[in-house]
Amino acid sequence: MTGSALDPAAPEALLPVATLPPWRPLLRAAREREGRSPAARWLQLATLAADGTPRLRTLVFRGWGGPRALDLLTDGRSAKTAELGLQPAVELCWLLPKARAQFRLRGQLQIVPEPLLKQERQRHWQALSPGGRALWGWPEPGAPLERGASFPQELAAALPLPEHFVLLRIALEQVELLALSGHPHRRRRWRLATDWREEDLNP
Ligand SMILES: Cc1cc2nc3c(=O)[nH]c(=O)nc-3n(C[C@H](O)[C@H](O)[C@H](O)COP(=O)(O)O)c2cc1C
Repeated sequence: MTGSALDPAAPEALLPVATLPPWRPLLRAAREREGRSPAARWLQLATLAADGTPRLRTLVFRGWGGPRALDLLTDGRSAKTAELGLQPAVELCWLLPKARAQFRLRGQLQIVPEPLLKQERQRHWQALSPGGRALWGWPEPGAPLERGASFPQELAAALPLPEHFVLLRIALEQVELLALSGHPHRRRRWRLATDWREEDLNP
């Protein structure tokens, strides 16, 4: 999927750096090392399926919805949306190869109240490229492919928000960083429960 990650109009962009959890500047620096590589925006989202087995897939990071709130976009008809309805706990894995850094982020799907939810969905919809938006004009993900079904290449921003255009806002509770750049490797953890105090761990 394509589309812009950080919208400078987002309230988040106005926050002073001091109010951010300490792992945020580290993540930002590691992402900056990627330059224009798409790896800077691709992460893996793990959920739990109804039968208790894990599910994993790649998503695009769409920006921050708050100091510890990470935004993703998906199709409300997809399996992950149903899985998150049953079990809102997730883990994300973000590999930033140039920094030789792996971030593992744990959190919960946050319930965003209306009217904020509508505003935020609208903001993300506008920020997408026409090609990025097109995916929400495609038939139900994961359903059997039907001959002759329509898969538009672009959708205009002016179109009404599709109901299945879903914002997944993940409220992060724990972040772990493994950095392979030095010897020995360095592993650190921050937990919301301890006010994001940095803990050094064996790698
Ligand atoms: C590079 C890449 C980026 C992707 N970005 C997204 C995304 O932002 N949102 C999304 O719902 N699916 C995205 N996908 C597709 C998902 O990986 C997945 O195939 C799809 O969402 C269906 O997942 P599910 O059946 O587990 O719900 C992306 C796939 C790749 C390879």
